[in-house]
Amino acid sequence: MLPTSRFVTMMPMSEPLSFAKSLALEAGAIMLKHFSPGLEHTVKEDRTPLTRADTEINDLVLARIEAAFPEHSVLGEEGSRIKESEYLWVVDPIDGTSPYMRGVPTNVFSLALVQDGKPILGVVYDPYMKRMYHAVQGTGAYMNDTRIHTSAHESLDESSIAIDGFRGFSNLEFLETLRNSNSRFLSFGSTIYAHMLVASGQLEGVIFPLVRPSWDCASAKIIVEEAGGRTSDLVGKSQRYDRPVNGFISAGSATFHEALLTAIAPSIPDLPVQPS
Ligand code: IPD
Ligand code: CA
Ligand code: CA
Repeated sequence: MLPTSRFVTMMPMSEPLSFAKSLALEAGAIMLKHFSPGLEHTVKEDRTPLTRADTEINDLVLARIEAAFPEHSVLGEEGSRIKESEYLWVVDPIDGTSPYMRGVPTNVFSLALVQDGKPILGVVYDPYMKRMYHAVQGTGAYMNDTRIHTSAHESLDESSIAIDGFRGFSNLEFLETLRNSNSRFLSFGSTIYAHMLVASGQLEGVIFPLVRPSWDCASAKIIVEEAGGRTSDLVGKSQRYDRPVNGFISAGSATFHEALLTAIAPSIPDLPVQPS
């Protein structure tokens, strides 16, 4: 487990940001190179699929970070390098391998820089639509360098919500509440893809109910919040992103976030205490 630092230092973000964006472009080129329906894959122990593009991108990220920031740690879905370090890069080489290997372009590259459990920089790249999302703590969120903002929609009525990972719920009671509010459901097979739609105001909220390593949401945490949204674990608590998370919810506004938490409360299982 990574150490928790008592003191945090301030590193200028311009260099890591341009590094992360250029790495995202390289990752995107690999995604496009292999992208085709029926792509060959294996199945990992956690029963999720793995293609050669996932591994190639993860290897590239490990190599580039070792060269540019040799003192930093890397937590990657397909391989990590953990050191005694204040900074941790969290990478999901392809979020949405399921749609990816089917030739469905709802998948993204995701990279976050985490300091003392908190994402301070996030970059997400959709190579199909050429959408580069980024955020640095305190400076707003951007898509292709244009500022983006979340939706101001406040109630569940007529809202659009993405849900991925239904197996994380203890029951599906919450669906009845959402159905009665006439919410629209979308499921893209990539939770980070959906969170970027929240950041840009195209969706009101995303529920990701799985207890998983933080690569499924570290970048989304900072990008959605810098775009004006609200995020938390499944019961509304803040959490660290250098260890497994208790699910992840993003919402365009604080009021919508509260409404989502209330709606799903009857379907949330007992959650583990986040390990320290
Ligand atoms: C998956 C996606 C998907 C979620 C799965 C994740 P991956 O990530 O985020 O939305 O439902 O549980 O495993 O495996 O494609 O990186
Ligand atoms: Ca993922
Ligand atoms: Ca992945």
